[in-house]
Amino acid sequence: MRSVDVALGERSYSITIGPGVANSLRACLQVSPSASPVVVLADQTVANLHLAALTASLPPNSAVLPFAPGETAKSLTMVEHLCERLAALHAGRQTVILAFGGGVAGDLAGFVAAVYLRGVRFIQVPTTLLAAVDAAVGGKTGVNLAAGKNLVGAFYQPLAVVIDTDFLKTLSKRDCAAGLAESVKHAAVRDPALLTWHADHADAILARDSDNFTELIARNCAIKADVVARDERETGLRAILNHGHTIAHALEHLLNYELRHGECVALGMQVENELSCTRGWLPRPDAERIQSLLQRFDLPTHLPRRLAPADIWTACQMDKKNRGAAVNFVLLRGLADPVRVADVTAAEVERALEIIQPP
Ligand code: GLY
Repeated sequence: MRSVDVALGERSYSITIGPGVANSLRACLQVSPSASPVVVLADQTVANLHLAALTASLPPNSAVLPFAPGETAKSLTMVEHLCERLAALHAGRQTVILAFGGGVAGDLAGFVAAVYLRGVRFIQVPTTLLAAVDAAVGGKTGVNLAAGKNLVGAFYQPLAVVIDTDFLKTLSKRDCAAGLAESVKHAAVRDPALLTWHADHADAILARDSDNFTELIARNCAIKADVVARDERETGLRAILNHGHTIAHALEHLLNYELRHGECVALGMQVENELSCTRGWLPRPDAERIQSLLQRFDLPTHLPRRLAPADIWTACQMDKKNRGAAVNFVLLRGLADPVRVADVTAAEVERALEIIQPP
């Protein structure tokens, strides 16, 4: 078992990682009076697979509110529905919400926890690699609007993050790869030694060897915890974690979430690294190192169909990181040397996008 602390003063919490650590939930929940309900907001697919194992670690007065899987669950309509259901359960201020599922469950349940009764406590119990290495840590919660992804939300830290690697065993190869994209991103912006580690342990990672998986998640959580502790509300440093994401969010929106978030991040990193290389910043061999790792992890190198560059640029302009008309990107001047820029032109993006257009 591994543990990583997120140091945020009175909102500090621990991330516990390893096989079987869901058993530690009982200890986390002791902060709550025994009469207070625990409500699990669960992705239905995850609930079908793992709810029995989870509830074995929960007090008997727990309730479960399942929701249909997929990005469409991240809506204000679903927030209202879940809040109404919580009210029907008479869930009070002592309620602890468990966010059980992948990034969607964490974002949605975290946002419900942030707004229900002006805030009740919640615990992230991620069941995808993407949520384990990134989304469940750091308190970003929210839902989508028709206009774009994550346009409504709150920074709201959980009480704890419990990453039971046993829950990750049922992940599809595709979902596993999607999580690895965020891990490669962390390595590129913060820890080049992790890039080497990925390459050296690729077989074991892909085979989901328990020790290597725990190590991978712990290393990512340590990077994320450090960045979040320095800049919780993304006023500066935390923005580096958006590397690859300006393009990724545009692709997710235009493809109507047909590709996984991590797959779009992999494509986004390739385009944004091409922008960096063309500007003479990121040395080509470093971009190629990242590219070959993404390929090794079976992440896409091309879009499923040709998208009009002008549409991608328009979608980029909806990104919430933008200020005014300029589109913000996090490019690399080198490995572990990210830089925020707002002067990328439509023509530059159009050229760089060619590398991911289908042949
Ligand atoms: N996923 C990037 C962040 O949490 O800041």
